[in-house]
Amino acid sequence: MPNRELADIRIQYQRDALDWSKLDNNPLLSLQNWMSDAIQNALLEPTAMTIATADAQGQPHARVVLLKGLDHGLVFYTNYDSAKGQELMQNPKAACTFFWPALERQIRVEGVIHKISDQESDHYFGSRPRDSQLAACASRQGHVIADRSLLENAFAHIATQFINQPIPRPANWGGYRLAPTRFEFWQGRPNRLHDRLVYRLESGNWQRERLSP
Ligand SMILES: Cc1cc2nc3c(=O)[nH]c(=O)nc-3n(C[C@H](O)[C@H](O)[C@H](O)COP(=O)(O)O)c2cc1C
Repeated sequence: MPNRELADIRIQYQRDALDWSKLDNNPLLSLQNWMSDAIQNALLEPTAMTIATADAQGQPHARVVLLKGLDHGLVFYTNYDSAKGQELMQNPKAACTFFWPALERQIRVEGVIHKISDQESDHYFGSRPRDSQLAACASRQGHVIADRSLLENAFAHIATQFINQPIPRPANWGGYRLAPTRFEFWQGRPNRLHDRLVYRLESGNWQRERLSP
């Protein structure tokens, strides 16, 4: 596709406006409210968030994961030995974004990530469909594989190992919780004069400010 065509793609955002009267004092509740809007609007993968981590050299890496819990932090599940797991061991700071194009909304969250308890990971793992549990056991996330058949064979092998038995959570698979220190709620507006409302955690209190788009 020629660059000219790419450069010509643009829309006017005009669905909604954002001011502090529409958000809660607690940004986690505001996130919950916007997530409910995304779910009620039947958006595809409303819980998908892009999470960025950085390695010891400062190189950022970003990928999509699914939000699986929202309480005092944002919980997602993955393989602890994956690239993201290794990056988080070197540097627990992370940032994530949600983008819901149909609602013309973005949320940015920054903070520090910690592993959740084994008990919490066990509980979630136990609630997953059996095939997802098998896949977590079969995949050494991020390792090079010579052929897809090796992965499918590993899956089938583990399935026969655990016939009629519960599948135990692999020790290297579990959850992380992002403890937020900054949120930004973004609502697209006409003429690129978008609304940006920011919460910053300072001495245990959420400070609020509006940013220029
Ligand atoms: C919609 C979507 C949802 C995903 N959800 C997860 C997830 O919840 N956990 C996960 O580990 N990977 C998930 N992935 C795959 C990741 O984007 C990524 O490929 C994988 O975690 C390996 O990342 P890493 O090598 O940077 O650790 C998802 C990908 C997409 C596109």
